[in-house]
Amino acid sequence: MPAADHYDAIILGAGGAGLMCALSAGQRGRRVLVIDHADAPGKKILISGGGRCNFTNIHTAPDRYLSANPHFAKSALGRYAPQDFIDLVEKHRIAWHEKTLGQLFCDGSAKQIVRMLLDECEGGGVEIRLSAPITDVTHADGVFTIAHGGRTATAPALVIATGGPSIPKLGATGFAYDLARRFGLKVVEPRPALVPLTLGGEEALFRTLSGVATEVVASAGKAAFREAALFTHRGLSGPAILQISSYWKNGESIAIDFLPDAPAGWLAAAKRARPRAHLRAALAERLPDRLAETLADRLALPGELANQRDAALAEVERRLATWRFTPNGSEGFAKAEVTVGGIATAGLSSQTMAARHLPGLHAIGEAVDVTGWLGGYNFQWAWASGWAAGQAI
Ligand code: FDA
Repeated sequence: MPAADHYDAIILGAGGAGLMCALSAGQRGRRVLVIDHADAPGKKILISGGGRCNFTNIHTAPDRYLSANPHFAKSALGRYAPQDFIDLVEKHRIAWHEKTLGQLFCDGSAKQIVRMLLDECEGGGVEIRLSAPITDVTHADGVFTIAHGGRTATAPALVIATGGPSIPKLGATGFAYDLARRFGLKVVEPRPALVPLTLGGEEALFRTLSGVATEVVASAGKAAFREAALFTHRGLSGPAILQISSYWKNGESIAIDFLPDAPAGWLAAAKRARPRAHLRAALAERLPDRLAETLADRLALPGELANQRDAALAEVERRLATWRFTPNGSEGFAKAEVTVGGIATAGLSSQTMAARHLPGLHAIGEAVDVTGWLGGYNFQWAWASGWAAGQAI
């Protein structure tokens, strides 16, 4: 084996977090090596946002992140804000637009974001080694030694930026967790998040609505999201469901308000306006036809509205506003945009992302137990945590 190459810092993972960490450390004059087993950097960036990369959200705030410690993300998010990333994007003359709810996308292509990060890395003299499987990581006398792709590199600082296990076909692995555990860090049980939920049993009949979408409020516990829900051939998807999936746990139910804009008493008013109408017709005025039919079947209110007592109609309104689904699972890591859980923040400094008991070791990005909402929040965490570590290594 050739003699080891020595660096100031080695970053494992050339995703958004790893590249941001590398460019910021490199531009501070650090000698940085990035190692990735994939054959190209930033693969998740390339497929993100439908190929346009939803690279940040202007409403970024710590309460839009899930973590065992809701305060942990504050420091990094506060020091590297959405505007910092927008400044970088504008410096590279990448045109962007706000789509909805503060979500910023490239006008052109996600490739521009990867190109920008690589150019910035180059500006910082960062070396990137791809197609380099990591075969061993050791630590002795304050130095980390990384065996990878038949080579060896050493550095006093090591950054774990290999992400979470979502979408294994893109090269995602649980490597970060194994490595963290080996160095004495704890891992909060990872589970798929921003993921479609599946329906079975009695609720399987909703799968016949595959392709139907409607705006709802989806809630689980105290979390609630008003966005579109989409029925699929396996269950439920769409932004409202993806959002709530991060808060949902196996065995629990979620509540759907199918008519968030309907005023109280709307069905009694419909009865007076159209007494001969059936529930299905009244629902079809506010919901897609097929959904109206399925819900009316389930609610089983026989006959014309004129024959219903107002109290019964009020009960129907209540059920439509708090419809309970108990998903029998999710589509799993194969379809999850992110992972909830990960390297426990209790063992990390929120300022530097360094392990408290082993300050040369850092963890950033999705590998850490910080998970954002849908809509650019996860990249903002990747940038912010990467930048924080990049200032420290
Ligand atoms: P990331 O997973 O990006 O990078 C980890 C790197 O480590 C990869 O390059 C991988 O090859 C490498 N690696 C893994 N295991 C390794 C090993 N054993 N050895 C060596 N290297 C290894 N977020 C958002 O804010 N806006 C959006 O539009 C989207 N869209 C989106 C779409 C889809 C389909 C998905 C799956 C995800 C999103 N996301 C998103 C989430 C976002 O992609 C995610 O939060 C970030 O990519 C996380 O960045 P990291 O750098 O932490 O991990």
